[in-house]
Amino acid sequence: MMLSRDSDTILVADDDPVIRTNLRVLMESEGYRVVEAADGMEAAKALETPCITLVLLDLKMPGCTGLDVLRDHQDRLEDTPVIVITALGGSSAAIEAMKLGAYDYITKPFDLDDVLFTVRRALEQTVLMAQVRALMSNNDEADSSGEELIGHSPAMLAVFKTIGKVAATQEPVLILGESGTGKELVANAIYRNSDRAGKLFVKVNCAALSPTLLESEFFGHERGAFTGAVTRRIGRFEQANGGTLFLDEIGDLGLDLQTKLLRTLQNGQFERVGGEQTIRVDVRIIAATNRDLPALIAERRFREDLYYRLNVVMIELPPLRSRRGDIPVLAEHIIRTLAGKYNWPQLAISPDAMRHLSLRSWSGNVRELHNVLVRAAILTRGRLIQPEDLTADGLPSSSSVQYSSSTPTFHLKDILAETERRVIQEALSHTTWNRTQAARLLGISRRQLFDKIREYGLVRKPEF
Ligand SMILES: Nc1ncnc2c1ncn2[C@@H]1O[C@H](COP(=O)(O)OP(=O)(O)OP(=O)(O)O)[C@@H](O)[C@H]1O
Ligand SMILES: [Mg+2]
Repeated sequence: MMLSRDSDTILVADDDPVIRTNLRVLMESEGYRVVEAADGMEAAKALETPCITLVLLDLKMPGCTGLDVLRDHQDRLEDTPVIVITALGGSSAAIEAMKLGAYDYITKPFDLDDVLFTVRRALEQTVLMAQVRALMSNNDEADSSGEELIGHSPAMLAVFKTIGKVAATQEPVLILGESGTGKELVANAIYRNSDRAGKLFVKVNCAALSPTLLESEFFGHERGAFTGAVTRRIGRFEQANGGTLFLDEIGDLGLDLQTKLLRTLQNGQFERVGGEQTIRVDVRIIAATNRDLPALIAERRFREDLYYRLNVVMIELPPLRSRRGDIPVLAEHIIRTLAGKYNWPQLAISPDAMRHLSLRSWSGNVRELHNVLVRAAILTRGRLIQPEDLTADGLPSSSSVQYSSSTPTFHLKDILAETERRVIQEALSHTTWNRTQAARLLGISRRQLFDKIREYGLVRKPEF
């Protein structure tokens, strides 16, 4: 749905006739049409007509309160944002209104410029969200199971090609890449596309257990093999017989177990811990690590022969910062998955926020991108994600643009813009979004501040 300025009709709901008149004159002078309501009942009635595109809602009205109106209006907030007017600044009612999905709130006595600015921004954002949603629904990739490997970059296309070629063979595959680059996803994809797809896929994390427990995890043990081994246990190799075994974090495996693993990989044989009998299995091995295996070999912490045994086919996943072109497709994929999972039909990323995502260094790769977007989606309660929602690990958004140490930026304009955004954000937080005070603190005019807020997509957050 597209909204244009001409068709905007604003519902002004306030029991104070003076306020209603002030707001009507102001809105009409800006070319908006105005419908008035003198209490909650009238407001609710007016909202039944489809022409209203925005609501200015007083919270304290006789009869049915603004909060009641807001509650009944929940399912239409997407197209008709509500700006709450409250006499009690920062009160629990205002917070409650924000929780119920109000777009913003204005405290009485209010500044007319403030009202106008907030109205304009809410209407713009409604249009923007409708456009982004339309864009995203055009981009219709059928499967969003979350298991799908996403990427359009040449590096990822090469990875997909290798997966396709190697999946059908019985060869071991070694997957390398920094943490969060999708190694486990690739292991799953190889398994799913192999002729062992119907058989078991067994995973072992080589970093998770002590060497003794890990040996038993790999090969199983006989009853009484060690203290606590009260029953016989079947290990992962035996469980995976006929299927695929994924050895995750292989770089963390101790030297002792490396030797035992090598033997099993060479001839498919092993003994359970404390057992005499030699067991033979047929297992396809996929291994992964974020460690630098050649460096570990040089330090004699990883066996070279095991490395060559595992490394028949190697898939190296590039870090996200070296394939930035994948960031928008990944982000959109993640957003679509979240929107479906949590029933957030309005969830979307603003173009500004997307630009911020494309700039970051992403040392935690796709996992970090995923986490940042989940957090942003929650912060916006499933609405439009703006740059300031993109904080990492609960840090203030000021640190949201991190430049990778391997690719430092000296781009003065970017650095200055980021600093300006940060200072403005801090001034607004400091004054709890009193824009007159914030402008004074910053030594700029209110008009300039409004322009900057718009430019950087700064949005006020409810104080829970
Ligand atoms: N290409 C991709 N497409 C879609 N999602 C991806 C992709 N790469 C990674 N992810 C997602 O990122 C997260 C991390 O991926 P995964 O667990 O496979 O990383 P990893 O390389 O095994 O990390 P670690 O070394 O820390 O174990 C998962 O949620 C995964 O679904
Ligand atoms: Mg992993």
